[in-house]
Amino acid sequence: MRRRTDSSDCCEAPGAIESSTDNPHKVYEKAETFWSRCSQDEMGMLGGTTGLHAPDVSGSINFLNTLKKNNIITKFENALDCGSGIGRVTKHVLMPAYKSVDMVDLVDELVATSAVYIGTDDGIGEKFVEGLQTFEPPVRKYDIIWIQWVSGQLTDQDLTSFLQRCIQGLAPGGTVVIKESVSNGGKTLFHDTDGCWTRPESLILKIAENAGLKVSHKAIQTGFPKGLFSVKMIAFKPVHPVEENDD
Ligand SMILES: C[S@@+](CC[C@H](N)C(=O)[O-])C[C@H]1O[C@@H](n2cnc3c(N)ncnc32)[C@H](O)[C@@H]1O
Repeated sequence: MRRRTDSSDCCEAPGAIESSTDNPHKVYEKAETFWSRCSQDEMGMLGGTTGLHAPDVSGSINFLNTLKKNNIITKFENALDCGSGIGRVTKHVLMPAYKSVDMVDLVDELVATSAVYIGTDDGIGEKFVEGLQTFEPPVRKYDIIWIQWVSGQLTDQDLTSFLQRCIQGLAPGGTVVIKESVSNGGKTLFHDTDGCWTRPESLILKIAENAGLKVSHKAIQTGFPKGLFSVKMIAFKPVHPVEENDD
């Protein structure tokens, strides 16, 4: 998420992390309560921080264009927006590039509001209401799976398993993108308010590697107000590529 590095609602690992990961269900419940009460608009999706939406969208579009230029992404049929909320990323980043975008989010009300926020059903595929900790993406469907500002809502273990299921969900040549805030100095921070972890980039990369993904391209988000955590965009491919003729 887009928090300030000096945010008072976060406490440092290891104590908070150990106690929180002992009770992942409690953390997920807390997240659901938090996000079901947030304002159902762009500001709500961005944690109430101003000045993020426009640079975030252009940073993501530039990142997609770089992936395209480098032939990392070559097909533009189906995309999946994970932790989609009201569909901010779906509408501004994925719909302009992909024929059909599916959405998944934990909070029913946010997914419902997406119809109004996006304003059209054209280009919208399926809408799933489920936590990523259990969600199984349809198999071999997606050219891109975009995971923005939601990977921190999962425990290390659940994020690893989710990424493994994402690999199953990729079409041949497909790509997983994680766009996430990262902490400095190698420490993971737990935010009690919304039950969310800010991990160092090294841990995100380790979790992705353990899941069977390798980095194809990385970039840093620019143009955000000062005082926030850095935000990284990382494109991954499966270590064992999904073949055209796999069953
Ligand atoms: C910071 S918002 C980001 C929304 C969107 N990705 C964006 O950038 O506009 C986090 C979103 O993740 C959703 N979320 C939180 N925990 C989740 C979970 N375990 N599984 C799926 N979605 C979750 C929230 O409901 C919320 O919509």
